[in-house]
Amino acid sequence: MHLNRNDEDTLAGELGPVKQKAMEILVALGDIYGAEKLIPIESAQIAGVSYKTIGEAGLEYLTDLTGSVTVPTMLNPMGMDRYKWRQMGIKEAFVEKQLAIIRRYESLGIDAQCTCTPYYVKAPRKEAHLSWSESSAVSYANSVLGARTNREGGPSALAAALVGKTPDYGYHLDENRVPDISIKIDFPLAGADFGALGYVVGKIINSQVPQFSFVTPPSDDELKALGAGMAATGSVALFYPEQGAMSSEIIELERSDVDIYSSSEPDVVVLGCPHCSRSELTEIARLLEGRTVTRPLWICTSRFVADRCSSLISRIEATGARVICDTCMIVSPAFEKRSMMVNSGKALEYGPNLCNSHTVIGTTSSCVNTACNT
Ligand code: F3S
Repeated sequence: MHLNRNDEDTLAGELGPVKQKAMEILVALGDIYGAEKLIPIESAQIAGVSYKTIGEAGLEYLTDLTGSVTVPTMLNPMGMDRYKWRQMGIKEAFVEKQLAIIRRYESLGIDAQCTCTPYYVKAPRKEAHLSWSESSAVSYANSVLGARTNREGGPSALAAALVGKTPDYGYHLDENRVPDISIKIDFPLAGADFGALGYVVGKIINSQVPQFSFVTPPSDDELKALGAGMAATGSVALFYPEQGAMSSEIIELERSDVDIYSSSEPDVVVLGCPHCSRSELTEIARLLEGRTVTRPLWICTSRFVADRCSSLISRIEATGARVICDTCMIVSPAFEKRSMMVNSGKALEYGPNLCNSHTVIGTTSSCVNTACNT
């Protein structure tokens, strides 16, 4: 891989051992994937934030890092809301470790907005190169916003944030952004149907670049749910939601293929995987209006969105539901080993394995009905 003079100096350790190590990671990645050069990135987003997933080894690794990131950088969600952890039943020993992780990231100049929807905080420019880790955010950035990012691991995203560059391969290149399979949907879909569709399609196509043909164009929230589902079950990082020329491989799905909903008597109902937008919070508030929650209902969003939706959140919480920030439902100890009902194809995939939870999926409306026992 070609390195310019500054890159060579960084690799030689002239900017210190932390940036040297970061450059070594980027060069190794570039060599593995045949990148010709490093390219500047507009922003980074780093996974590996919950103490539940990175543990003591991750905390120690972060403790050894010094210096600061060179591009705007955010974090994926962690295992708890930084203020409401007591309500979530999180133990103090976990809180101490979790907050130590956040402080370490902050000391590197990282914005500790812990969210899987960083694009609500600041949307990347079209065609901007990014180094993002969260699979659903990668999918949204590539497919809805027209930016360019591979799905980075936590260490490679951090290395890119420190250096301000990433190797030029994968979805940064035009040649890898061409649809190679068409998915034809001849029946109407709405809301959580798109998360279910993503869950189903990801299991069929695995890492391909699908082009969809829908009866009516999905909303951005629906595209977010679709991409999250496909990313979870099929590592799909880029899709095209608008009708285009059909590729030679076409898959046609029936309504029954997507109907993976089931009713349940879960311990807990959890919404917001990925984190809720303002319009999703509005919909949940509307569904809860005049009702009382009789089964725990947790709703995850980013602190950025929550800070701008305080009256909506008051309406939601007046029913007994709880809105939490900073938190990934899957990597939080709060929902471990509890049966969950979700409205997300991604949470349906990860709940059983990463959360050790019996997980079922319903529409947002049936999730709210289940929480209200009606
Ligand atoms: Fe976000 Fe966690 Fe779901 S990072 S997309 S809430 S699995």
